[in-house]
Amino acid sequence: MGISATDSEFLERVLAAGTILVNIGDIDILLEQILTEARFFTNADAGSIYTVEGGVLSFCHSQNDTITRRGDRIPYTRFSIPLSKSSMAGYVASTGEILNIDDVRKIPDDAPYSFDDSYDKAAFYRTRSTLTLPLINNRKVVVGVLQLINARSDSREFIAFHSRMELLGKYYATLGALALERAMMTRTLLMRMVNMTELRDPGETGPHVNRVGSYSVAIYDSWAKANRVEEAERIHNKDVLRMAVMLHDVGKTGISDVILKKPAALSPDERKIMENHCIIGAEILRNCESPFDEMAKDIALCHHENWDGTGYPRGLKGNEIPFMARITSIADVFDALSSSRAYKNPWATNLVTDEMEKLFGSKFDPDLKTHFVSQLEVLQELKENYPENRKTEEGRKNDDEK
Ligand SMILES: [Fe+2]
Ligand SMILES: [Fe+2]
Repeated sequence: MGISATDSEFLERVLAAGTILVNIGDIDILLEQILTEARFFTNADAGSIYTVEGGVLSFCHSQNDTITRRGDRIPYTRFSIPLSKSSMAGYVASTGEILNIDDVRKIPDDAPYSFDDSYDKAAFYRTRSTLTLPLINNRKVVVGVLQLINARSDSREFIAFHSRMELLGKYYATLGALALERAMMTRTLLMRMVNMTELRDPGETGPHVNRVGSYSVAIYDSWAKANRVEEAERIHNKDVLRMAVMLHDVGKTGISDVILKKPAALSPDERKIMENHCIIGAEILRNCESPFDEMAKDIALCHHENWDGTGYPRGLKGNEIPFMARITSIADVFDALSSSRAYKNPWATNLVTDEMEKLFGSKFDPDLKTHFVSQLEVLQELKENYPENRKTEEGRKNDDEK
């Protein structure tokens, strides 16, 4: 059997997509990209991607051209459900089988899974065909599920997924699973460094760095799209930024507990020592060998510099401050104001926004103001993805009382 032009075209697209995936290190950026590329080569209108960990199916990311074209936003909030065969994604995650369904409304009654139409109803959408693929790692464990929704014909009609997509999809899902496993490991390693920082400074938690990382990416993405940054470069920068931001305060591991955990205000001398965390962070991340190291060092060193030159450690001004550090600074302050800390409750949303908006031009890069403001709703949604761990907070309070 020869390969038709269409087949080889598809194959080329899948191979190209695979190359893109292996170059992504961050798990969030990767999940988004696995879905984007798969929708491209299957010409799917919509899709969702899930991770599978510890018997739980976590909905991570979804895309929908029809809804986006209508001008509506796709929610960023994640949710988790226990693994069960009753949903299509759960069935694929539990069995490792591919499900190619021509019409979800014609699923036989005796099938173990059924179609949940609550999303369709809420979003005024009509799901017809679905192709649901397991992401299986080399130990034969399902680490994720990729669900493609509504294949489109050339005239943009919703049609069934061609059976050739199953084979190509299977190959692509294998590449996706390998990239996903590596990204999970990278995230774990970064979190271990953050956990070390948290031992010294209880404010520098895993959820905090994840929030600041995802806020920074959202602000950068808005800026990059407005400035017509080429897509491959934009994705690469988002990937490196998402990881690099997580280490912004890694230098706090080198600051004494006496200062970091002091309940009262710091004296000017103590403040000077505290400010050293930027220099120590840059020291920890020196020997730049990759774009990640370079950006992580810039961010660790410059995230407390202010646009008007009043920041530390070097009092840099305006464009002297590395761009990604200017973005991190906005995200870090936004998170400090909008979340609770041992010494304060979170501020009300409107107070946070008012205070933040006042700081553009003095503390923050004024050119980034429109991007911060346009992303506010997204930032609020991203915040829900990384709630502070209450148990840890209570444990901390008890520790403090000792
Ligand atoms: Fe800091
Ligand atoms: Fe921070």
